[in-house]
Amino acid sequence: MQLRQDKGVSRKFEELIKLALERGFFTSASEIYSDAPAGFWDYGPLGAAMKRKFIELWRRELVRRDCMLEIDGAQILSKSVFKASGHLDSFVDPIARCSKCGAIYRVDKLIEERTGLHVPERLNLDEMRRIVEENDVRCTRCGGKLTGYYYFNMMFRIGIGVAEADAYLRPETCQNIFVDFLRLYKTMRRKLPFAIAQYGKSFRNEISPRQGLLRMREFYQAEIEVFFNPNRANDFPKADAVMDYELRLQQVGESEPSEITCREALSQGLISSKLVAYYLALIQQFYEKAGIPKERIRLRQLGEDEKAFYAVEAWDLEVETSLGWIELVACNNRGDHDLGGHQRMSGQEMEVLDDGQKILPHVFELSMGVDRSLYCILENFLDLENGKTILRLPPYLAPIDAAILPLVSREPLTSKAMEIYDELRRDFDVEYDDSGSIGRRYMRYDEVGVPICITVDYQTMEDDTVTIRFRDSAHQIRVDVSDLPCLMRGWLAYP
Ligand code: GLY
Repeated sequence: MQLRQDKGVSRKFEELIKLALERGFFTSASEIYSDAPAGFWDYGPLGAAMKRKFIELWRRELVRRDCMLEIDGAQILSKSVFKASGHLDSFVDPIARCSKCGAIYRVDKLIEERTGLHVPERLNLDEMRRIVEENDVRCTRCGGKLTGYYYFNMMFRIGIGVAEADAYLRPETCQNIFVDFLRLYKTMRRKLPFAIAQYGKSFRNEISPRQGLLRMREFYQAEIEVFFNPNRANDFPKADAVMDYELRLQQVGESEPSEITCREALSQGLISSKLVAYYLALIQQFYEKAGIPKERIRLRQLGEDEKAFYAVEAWDLEVETSLGWIELVACNNRGDHDLGGHQRMSGQEMEVLDDGQKILPHVFELSMGVDRSLYCILENFLDLENGKTILRLPPYLAPIDAAILPLVSREPLTSKAMEIYDELRRDFDVEYDDSGSIGRRYMRYDEVGVPICITVDYQTMEDDTVTIRFRDSAHQIRVDVSDLPCLMRGWLAYP
């Protein structure tokens, strides 16, 4: 079982992919077939469990903390949705073909790979062609010249019903939120500002999917769309709680982030409003709660030529990994682009009353890539020191809460361990394992991030106590079996 090798990956990346494949985190989809397309992944039991816990953290730290509404929308949406959103015209990548062997390239990425020059996302095609020619960028396979430049739309088009009517797999989850906005506003009796969240799949026909979970064609997003009155974005008392919190902002033109409180960032005009400052603080705090050290997080401001076509203000939350800084959350002020577009296209009025005035709400979004976030968290906690592999995940993100291990695979220890397992498994993600030496089993569970092992030994049969062995310290304590549920809740608790 081998992964197609990518260029420019690190040892940590390779070790992580090996662990993921061998231990049930994730694997390439359709892997037993030679026509398996790149960019599609299956989560195994451990990956699925970790993703569930990550999403629970997202719900806890963002959705519930901020009283957001959460929806779960369809993945296939009508052509009109994407005409209105601008994706049919503007959700495109610059493509060129090798004149000799026909290989297809995404031009901006090829230039970056071959020259190290950064190519802004919105640079026009002629300009890219000029850079290619000036720098003699050629096909990486045969050295041929590039030709046939065009824009490729990245949405997957599908046919509905026998007539195969045009529809599209959503390239971002948030379009459901915009289309449903008015119904939700009315039925859920909300007032501005308020947020709608959604976790689910999105689809992009990437030219060159690569680096495992980092660039996929089918992927999970957890998106939050905040609807607000643009005239009152500073009338936002909730933000007072984060005014002294330090954001790690990296403005356009700067090479390093600087720590600056929300208050200072606002007074210096770096951020457009208190509302935006508040949500930037929430998302940075979220990744700190996920265990990423603050110094590995930055909020990088995007320049005019880097922003998505719908954004008027954009910050990318990025995390530093062995592969460099990876964008995990696009924090976009989308203005009235979406509600305005859907209002024009559908004829459905999207204006609402706020402060005695009819206004078309603006949107600020926190658009999170879930798979990439999981990669970055896994990599951050993968400890390869001293020839051992230990995945030091925070307990509340660990796919398995505890392993229950009879000291030896012999009665009555196995039955007693099974009894404890049966008792705990309704409330916890626990595993029973009696194969191999106890030392090997500890190692096996350290490798996949299990924070505690519960060992049943001969003393258990006498006094109903077990040994608890903690992953990070290898420290052991003895506790009563009857105290296990309560103690485990404490050990697994969120900070
Ligand atoms: N909704 C923004 C994005 O998908 O990037």
